[in-house]
Amino acid sequence: MTEKSALSDLAVFGGAPLFDAPKSTSNLVRPELDAFLGYSRQFFAAAGQGGSGPVVEALETRLAALHEARHCVSFCSGFWALVLAIATLARPGRTQVVMPSLTYRRMADVVAWTGLVPHFCDVDPASLAISATSAAAKLNEQTALILAVHPIVNCCDVHGLEALARQHDLPLLFDSVESVYETVAGGKIGRFGDAEVFSLHASKLLNGFEGGYITTNNAALAEALRRGREGGLATPQPGLNARLNEVHAAMALAGLDDLQAQVLRNRERYLAYRSLLADMHGLRLLDFDPQQQTSFKTIVAELTEAWPLTRDETVRILNAERILARAYYAPPLHLKPMAYPAISSPLPVTEFYAQRLLLLPCGHFIEQQDIAAVAGLLDFIRRHGAAIRRRCEETAA
Ligand SMILES: Cc1ncc(COP(=O)(O)O)c(C=O)c1O
Repeated sequence: MTEKSALSDLAVFGGAPLFDAPKSTSNLVRPELDAFLGYSRQFFAAAGQGGSGPVVEALETRLAALHEARHCVSFCSGFWALVLAIATLARPGRTQVVMPSLTYRRMADVVAWTGLVPHFCDVDPASLAISATSAAAKLNEQTALILAVHPIVNCCDVHGLEALARQHDLPLLFDSVESVYETVAGGKIGRFGDAEVFSLHASKLLNGFEGGYITTNNAALAEALRRGREGGLATPQPGLNARLNEVHAAMALAGLDDLQAQVLRNRERYLAYRSLLADMHGLRLLDFDPQQQTSFKTIVAELTEAWPLTRDETVRILNAERILARAYYAPPLHLKPMAYPAISSPLPVTEFYAQRLLLLPCGHFIEQQDIAAVAGLLDFIRRHGAAIRRRCEETAA
């Protein structure tokens, strides 16, 4: 690691990068190899080795228990789980899905695959998530479904959204990809709305390399999702093969064994950031809600007006140091060029935060000393912001 003491030490100005190896903002958690191999032996020993088998079944049972939901249906990815859930739940004859714009960059694509039209709503400034008020402003006679997405830190207003959906007799689907371990008042995430969707991608809390799953308390819906997952054979609907395979299920089961320990490790990283960034003028760490159970997985910070550089300038400087800091959901979806129909309008809260939030390194490969180095660099940038900007302008001229 190379400390910075002069502007020319910054990698954007030709200095040596702070880190030898890139520091990711993805979880990339690695459970014990032996645990993964142990679960893998089960499917290797089983008769049929294609598609889903005993390990997938065991995973579905454990995930339903984790979320205190009656049913869990696994998928090859969170993306296809979302597509099938929306297609299955949407009110027939209607065309629009009300959803946030400050969210996962492929979320509108998910809706487009169902043939429905994304109708973007704003987010609540406190939760940075869709709320009953922001969703209600976009409901109309064409609304087929409300797609509520939990933000990266904390959760959206589950009960407010459930009340709104009930009041308008609309299906409510939660994207809970970022909230696997979380609780809200009233219980574990995974048992709210009509269904909740999760991902097992390597960047998520539970790493199955790839994969996804849906939890629900509705037996008929679970059955429809199971049929849909490998559907098209006995129905006139377009077919799909979106099954999870045994290898990915074995990895996810090993991750489940390590889940509590992982959360404790994540917590240590979060606490380190919290203490090191507590007095950094212009930078606000988004705090996890101490009243709720949470995974402490992802570190998000807001750069306020007191920060001397823009978020994008800051990300550029960090990236040059091999810190893979990223803008948090920018551009927001309603400002992203799309080759399919979508309903957009100005969304002031979304547009404001899409320019201020960034993800900082976290996950399996980030050590305490890395966090100290990142915090030290941020402090250097804060103290020398005006000079850095001047130097950038001179270099560009
Ligand atoms: C909020 C959210 N929803 C859905 C997905 C899609 O999940 P997958 O990568 O398993 O397709 C992602 C992936 O990053 C996501 O962040």
